[in-house]
Amino acid sequence: MTTVTWYGHSCIEIESGGYSILVDPFLKDNPVAPIKPEQAHADFILVSHGHSDHVGDTVEIAKRLDALVICNFELANWLSNQGVRTHPQHIGGGYHHPFGYLKLTQALHGSALPDGGYGGNPAGFLLFTADGKKIYLAGDTGLFGDMSLIGEEGIDLAALPIGDNFTMGPLDALKAVKLIHPQIVLPIHYNTWDLISQDVNAWKKQVEKETPTKVAILKPGEKINLS
Ligand code: NI
Ligand code: MN
Repeated sequence: MTTVTWYGHSCIEIESGGYSILVDPFLKDNPVAPIKPEQAHADFILVSHGHSDHVGDTVEIAKRLDALVICNFELANWLSNQGVRTHPQHIGGGYHHPFGYLKLTQALHGSALPDGGYGGNPAGFLLFTADGKKIYLAGDTGLFGDMSLIGEEGIDLAALPIGDNFTMGPLDALKAVKLIHPQIVLPIHYNTWDLISQDVNAWKKQVEKETPTKVAILKPGEKINLS
């Protein structure tokens, strides 16, 4: 069994095969997060890019739990200089971790670190869990046509930003669903602040009218089982 919990914004926890994988743990300064960094659990932490709403509380949580942080090479250097255990990967590269095969995918965005440092290129994640689930976490990105290549894998769940302004908005996210054709899409990176507020129920209606994909609207802290 694989479960996916959304903690608001882009923070997601995937539980699979007895492991907890926490993605973009932005909790302390996230106005909609239902838990504090000290309540988070993780065996592994994935960080998509260097922006503060994604690096978030990575250092604090990784140190407290001795979690292994998986991210691009440049972010991994920055984190390991702060005493965090890291596993660097890069875009297009996959690795067999204990929880499954994880590949970094491209994302059209920036990746400057909170201190202004160079965070390499931003990424998304493609995860093949040990129990056969295929999960695509797009990260912060604009729409790109090669999402159709990711769709060829047969995606069970895709987490896509719909907030607009910094990432895809609802119309481009609908186009992304048509390229990826996942079984389930989880909208993320919206309603954290007014700047990225969206009518997620209207988006669900439109996606489900125009595609066979089911839209899972979660409240921060809610989870979905992939069975
Ligand atoms: Ni960003
Ligand atoms: Mn962001």
